Parts: sequence; C-alpha cells; structure tokens
Amino acid sequence: MTYTPQTVSAPAGFDIPQAVLSWVAEVAELTQPDDVYWCDGSVEERDRLYDQMVASGMFIALNPKLRPGCYLARSAPSDVARVEARTFICSAKPEDAGPTNNWADPKEMRATLDKVFAGSMRGRTMYVLPFSMGPLGGNISRLGIEITDSPYVVVNMRIMTRIGRPALEGICQGQDWVPAVHSVGYPLVDAEGVSRPDTTWPCNDEKYITHFPETRQIWSYGSGYGGNALLGKKCYALRIASVLARDEGWLAEHMLILRITSPEGRVFCLTAAFPSACGKTNLAMLRPTIPGWKVETVGDDIAWMRPGPDGRLHAINPEAGFFGVAPGTSEKTNPTCLHALDHDTIFTNVALTDDGDIWWEGLTDEPPAHLIDWTGLDWTPESGRPAAHPNSRFTVKADQAESIAPNWEDPAGVPVDVILFGGRRATNVPLISESYSWEHGVFVGATVSSEQTAAAEGAVGALRRDPFAMLPFCGYNMADYWGHWLKMGRQLGDQAPRIFQVNWFRKSADGKFLWPGFGDNSRPIEWALRRVAGQAEAVDAISGRIPATGQLNLDGLDMTPEKVDELFALDPDAWAAEADLTEEYFAQFGDKTPAELINQLAELRTRIADAR
Ligand code: GTP
Ligand code: SPV
Ligand code: MN
Repeated sequence: MTYTPQTVSAPAGFDIPQAVLSWVAEVAELTQPDDVYWCDGSVEERDRLYDQMVASGMFIALNPKLRPGCYLARSAPSDVARVEARTFICSAKPEDAGPTNNWADPKEMRATLDKVFAGSMRGRTMYVLPFSMGPLGGNISRLGIEITDSPYVVVNMRIMTRIGRPALEGICQGQDWVPAVHSVGYPLVDAEGVSRPDTTWPCNDEKYITHFPETRQIWSYGSGYGGNALLGKKCYALRIASVLARDEGWLAEHMLILRITSPEGRVFCLTAAFPSACGKTNLAMLRPTIPGWKVETVGDDIAWMRPGPDGRLHAINPEAGFFGVAPGTSEKTNPTCLHALDHDTIFTNVALTDDGDIWWEGLTDEPPAHLIDWTGLDWTPESGRPAAHPNSRFTVKADQAESIAPNWEDPAGVPVDVILFGGRRATNVPLISESYSWEHGVFVGATVSSEQTAAAEGAVGALRRDPFAMLPFCGYNMADYWGHWLKMGRQLGDQAPRIFQVNWFRKSADGKFLWPGFGDNSRPIEWALRRVAGQAEAVDAISGRIPATGQLNLDGLDMTPEKVDELFALDPDAWAAEADLTEEYFAQFGDKTPAELINQLAELRTRIADAR
C-alpha cells in the first residue's frame, strides 16, 4: 500500500489541515495498515467495534441482564500495567529530563521508532482518533489526535476523552493539537507477506512509551494497556501537558478534583495528589460519614489548573471518564463507584462469574465458589492466587457516577481552595497536617514518599519518593517542576490554595490500619476546610499544623484517644532520619534544587530540634 495525503480517506465535510493529512499519511506509510479509518465518535461506531471485538475474542460480552452494555477484556500476562522502565523523555538535553526520568536522545529514539513501527500495522486497521482533553471550547482544554491499531484503545478513549467530530472541527479551525501514535506492535502480516492469526491481546515484548517534549509528540509501541496506550491520559495530559504548563504558566497534575458543600452551604473545591492506586478514585466519590456535608466529583485522576480572571487557581478535569482500580471497590468502600459500574463499562483483567458477571478481590466478603480468573483459567477460593489482577481496571464515563458535580464540565474550571498531598505511609506521616506556607507545601509535595502499588511494574510495597505523585508523569526535570510550583505560588500570592498533607494508611505496630479511611476521610477534610474558613484550631508540629485537641470531628467513630494519638504521633528521631534522606534525595538534583526547598529542609530540622 502507498499512502499519500490524498489517499488517507479523510472524512467528507471537513476542511482538514494539510499538516494533519501529511502526518496521517506519513504514519500510514511507515506502519502499512490495510486501511485507514477516521473515528467519528458515534454510538454506531462504538457498537460496531464492540461487535467486532466480541467476534474476534478480544471482548467477552457480560450478561446483559446483570451488566448491560458491559464487556470484559483480558490482557496478556506480560502487559498489565504501566512500564516505567520503558517510558522515555526524549528531550534534546538529558538535564531537561532530569535524574528521575529515563532520557533518550531524540534522534536515536526516532531511528529506533522508525525501525519498530515499520510495517507494525500490517494486516490491521489504522484508526485516526481526534480527541479533546477537557470540555470543548474552554481555554484550559486542548486537542489531540491519536493514531492506533487497537480497537480496544478506540473504545476506551471514547469513554476517557471527548473523541470524534467536535474535536476534529476544532483542529480544522486551526487550534493546536498534539500528535500521538500508538501501535501494539503485532502485525498480522510480515514483510514477506506471510500472515499469522491475531491473539485476543496483541502486544510486543519490546515496549517504548516515548515523549518528545520540545516537539510535543508521543510515540507508544508494544503495549495495549492503560496509560501505555490510552495516550490522552498520562502521556498527553501529564507528561506533555506538564511541559506546556511550565512554558505557559499553568499546572498539569496527577490529582482528583472535588466540590464540597458545608452544612452552612459554603462551596469549597479541593484537589488531591496521591500516587497511583493510593485512593484518588475512592476520595473522588467520597460519601461523608459526618452529617450535613455534600461531596461531588469533578475528576478522579488528572487536574489541569490555571489562574483565572479572579486571580484564583481554577481546575478542570481534562478527562471524561474513570480508568479506575477494580480490586477493593465494594458496596462498603465505594458504593458510588460500584453503582457507576452497573452498565456501559469496560472491565479489564477482572474475574468472570459463572453467570456472566464480574468479580474481584474485595467486591464481596465471600468469594464465589467458582470463577474464571483474569488469565482465563478456572479459579476457586482454594486456588491460592488472585482471581482479578491487582491492577485490573474499569473504564466508565464520569457522568455515570451519581456524585458527578453539576458543573464538572464547566470549561472555566472550579476555583481551588485546598490541595492535599498524600501517599501510603505505614509510619511517621500523621493523618493530616497543614503546611506553614506555600513554600512549605511545595516542600511537602516534593518529598512525598509512598509504598509502591501494582499500578506500575516493580516491587509492590517498596517505599519510594513520589514527588507530587508525579514521579512517573513529569515530562521534564523534577527540580525545575518544583521551581515552577514555587513560581505559581508567587503569582497566586494570598489567593493561593492552602496545602495539606494527609495519610490514610498509617498502621499500628500489629500491622493494622489505624484510620478507617474511605467515608471517614471526610473528617480530616472537614478540619482542613474549617481551617480555610477560619473556624478550626491547630497546633504547630514537626510536619505542619495539626488539629488541636478536640478539633478533629470524631463523633460516632469508635476510636480510642490512644489510637488518635498514634495517628498523629511525630517521633523526632524518625523525622530526623527522614530529613537526612531528604537531603540525599535533593542532592541528586544538584544545583537545580530550588533554594526555597533547601531552606524548608533547614526549617524542618529546626522544628525537629525544638521538639526534642
Ligand atoms: P490511579 O488510578 O492508579 O492513579 O489510582 P487512584 O489513586 O485513583 O487509586 P484508587 O482510588 O483506585 O485506590 C485504590 C486502592 O486504595 C485500593 O487498594 C483501596 O482499597 C485503597 N484505598 C483507597 N482509599 C483508602 C482509604 O481511605 N483507606 C485505605 N486503607 N485504603 C484506601
Ligand atoms: C495510574 O497508574 O496512575 C493510572 C492508571 O491512573 S494508568 O492510566 O494506566 O496510568
Ligand atoms: Mn493515575
């Protein structure tokens, strides 16, 4: 096949810019698909793809009586999470990627990609997928085009972003767009013309998730899973967008967004950065256990924030759906989320019940007597292995959550009052503390560490630094990113949101969670919002200001005062050890570490000394 800008079958009725046609033709020339298909985002298109995928075995239709419009996909066991070791920032200079990213020379990576993408779509359809990150038309929203050879990616992107005609119209009107190319790397025909059958989850052992920050390009090869393949999500909305945000004076963050109404009717907005699989989706659909408070969802994973005309920081959710962790979601932990999954949901790597429904660890107290596990094998409670993969996920439209905020698609965004930073910390970090200043808040964000989860390949449980929950997602030098946060704080001045650190995951000596979490997280949040409103008292402590005695609402909670003390215990020796580790951590960024953060470390050491 020879593809030219004239033969890439662009849809009729659109005056598509030459640059778009040339790029699509170039990618088609390189990858050699059987045909090129432009997605319009319609329901008919979706249903056609669903039918095709059921016929090919990539999707299992779930029981329409139990889960109407729902499908199950099972990935290859080698392709179950983001691959951080194969994720590259290809900036011209290595120091612009920084010590926490994998850097690759853009010219060399280009040559590698030309090699692996050559013919990679043979025997397949190449889908051209125009999409918008954020509600169409807003000044924070952005457009993109993903090219992919995976129908799974198309139907997931259809849920996660706003795809199709309106996005293409914006591109035709000359709005900026980010090009993103994806191939699963499993051609069905080789260079000699010999065919092979497809698999139900095509992928390649060789993977490249690459970003070119200077030219704002994304190329992803070899994986079909999640953030590796749904390129609007981490690749665009975080890694490329963080670079755009640095250059243009805004923030692209791994944060949920909440709208909270107090019993007195005051509306607050809160964003929170927690590492992957540390509770963003859960907090995004919080059901408060304290009376009178109402919580509504704006976003569960990514926030784009920009100073508005009122001088305050305004946040939008650039996504349109949730790609959430399934295990642990239950009627007890997150009923709002569970109910959103009643219909029109794609499940990936969960277990299948005998009556065509889904199951995962934590969904019910008692597991079913028999299941088909995420690998397609028979499973019983005696099998001794998880039935659902720990990083199994659901993909669902955001507005299927009954908690969705009425203004969640406001292109102007919501004004942010409070920012939370958190992680999984069995020790040391108290339930909540308030930063002394924006600079202290940036220090807290920069030094977050968290026990690693199954959301990425690696040692689950190992403690690692995950600054701003952005370790795998910052598209440039992390120390420059901290500098950008400090600069934004200076710009926002006294309009800046207040910053708090939280930890739902502290454990007692016997290894049990000290804090009930989930709906009860409304309690520390109530304290934070009351602080903003000037209605709650705090005492100065090592980590920040913590609730004064009696100020954290524990009504109706069965919790001993000793346990509460344990939740807020601050051991000077343990904190001194943390401070030493922070000094080492900062050292790897050399003189790029902002002086303000070095000062904050000194102030922390002073507080530790005072506490002794
Ligand atoms: P990504 O989508 O990977 O960015 O993650 P996320 O932050 O949205 O993760 P999610 O909310 O899906 O986190 C799921 C995990 O966190 C599950 O293991 C939950 O049981 C656990 N979790 C969430 N909230 C709480 C809580 O308040 N307390 C405790 N102990 N666990 C929680
Ligand atoms: C995360 O890992 O933080 C996710 C899932 O939100 S993925 O989109 O696969 O990156
Ligand atoms: Mn995430």
